[in-house]
Amino acid sequence: MEIITTPSLESRDEADLLLVPFWKGKKHAEAAASAVSLYKLCAGVVDTRDFSGKEGEFVIIYVSGQPEKRFGLLGLGDQDAMTVEKLRRSYAQATKGCRAKKLSKLNIVLPDCKAIALDDLVKGIVEGLLLPNYAFTSLQKDALKKEPQVVLKGIKLIAAGKHELAVAQKCATICEAVNFARDLVNGNADDITPQYLSAVARGLEKTCDHVKTTVLNKKQIEKEKMGLLLAVNRGSFREPAFIIVEYKGNPKSKEKTVLVGKGITFDTGGLNLKPTGSMETMKCDMAGAAAVLGTIQAASNLGLKINITGVIASTENSIGSYSFKPGDVYTGYAGKSVEIGNTDAEGRLILADALAYTIDRLKPTRIIDLATLTGAIEITFGDEATGLMSNNDALADLLIQAGSVTGERLWRLPMYEEFRDSLKSDIADIKSTGGRGGSSIKAAIFLQEFVDKTPWAHLDIAGTAFLSDARRYNPKYGTGVGVRLLISFLEHL
Ligand code: BES
Ligand code: ZN
Ligand code: ZN
Repeated sequence: MEIITTPSLESRDEADLLLVPFWKGKKHAEAAASAVSLYKLCAGVVDTRDFSGKEGEFVIIYVSGQPEKRFGLLGLGDQDAMTVEKLRRSYAQATKGCRAKKLSKLNIVLPDCKAIALDDLVKGIVEGLLLPNYAFTSLQKDALKKEPQVVLKGIKLIAAGKHELAVAQKCATICEAVNFARDLVNGNADDITPQYLSAVARGLEKTCDHVKTTVLNKKQIEKEKMGLLLAVNRGSFREPAFIIVEYKGNPKSKEKTVLVGKGITFDTGGLNLKPTGSMETMKCDMAGAAAVLGTIQAASNLGLKINITGVIASTENSIGSYSFKPGDVYTGYAGKSVEIGNTDAEGRLILADALAYTIDRLKPTRIIDLATLTGAIEITFGDEATGLMSNNDALADLLIQAGSVTGERLWRLPMYEEFRDSLKSDIADIKSTGGRGGSSIKAAIFLQEFVDKTPWAHLDIAGTAFLSDARRYNPKYGTGVGVRLLISFLEHL
């Protein structure tokens, strides 16, 4: 994506379309910028009220004597109620409208908006344009030739300078990392294996500054006594992988945020096999791992002056004669024995080993895990929010703040200690599941058993990581959720 600026309306040159912003006025759409000459050319449509300027409304008109053949009138809704999220949602409609007409080069008139700081304005616009400008095409053959799905190739911000350009380019870097995570989620489960994720993590060491990758193979995982990751791996012919990616943006500091990702490359449910209808999307079960890798890529490319370590436990949860069994007891890195309540609750097992290893070996300042952990979180929030559970109010509040800034909303659930009773086992130290009620929270209560007093937050992204239809600025399938959230969080530390 080429992003450039030009100092004035007069200095712009040709493009496929000029994007002209409007507010929704009392009677009709109102100009959202002071470019009087342009708005005169739009008067016809505005007068007919065919276009009202409401949020996300997008109409193309054809003009002559301008550097562009088309103007795209874009509604931004109420001027006073403007937010960055509303900008994202509105500008996403412009990208969709341009895709329908295969328009790839846009000139952009920035709205004058008192309700929002200039940086946020540019951010909202660029993210709104770029986030939907994605399609997973690597498995398409003929279909793609007929219908190219990613068309936006260049945007030019008018009446903008160096500062605005830097803000826009930063957004583009983050969006690239979001797409990197989306690609990992969308790829075939038989391609995006634990070994592939390991190779991707090693690739980051090559392509990104200050990144170091270590991968533990099955033998090393056995040596570390990660018996829970190994239990889940039993049914799979592919070996598990335990991936550690360090980004040292501030070597002088001892501060370190560890991001732990669930990397189940396909979740069949194991012997407690998922039924038809529940398994088809389960290549998404490594979306936590994808978000961790994407965040590290973005942090390095942005040159953030912080330290982050990504920890990914990865395996398939397959079914076979070697599969781990419900009712059996396995012991992991922490030395605690776990009675398997249900083999489909595999995520908490591999995370337990990853969290215990993190606490014991990595000296984290704080830990954030991301996992497509429970179907129940999708029942609770649909795709509108990620579930947050934490042992630390300050960390939870910072994450919630990042959620509201980025539009990747978080909602915190209570970790009442009473839930712990449901995980009691008569045969082991703890049981992995505790019945249907409150099952997203019970999963977090289980994880907490493997964390000490270190500030820790668990993000259940089962509802937000994968969409069955395109929605607002997110495409169908993998959303890359977590990358923008975590970068915003890390920037504000
Ligand atoms: N990977 C699933 C959770 C999931 C569901 C992710 C829907 C994305 C969309 C997880 O491993 C799982 O199967 N959890 C079980 C736990 C239960 C057996 C206690 C669930 O939520 O049903
Ligand atoms: Zn499962
Ligand atoms: Zn799973």
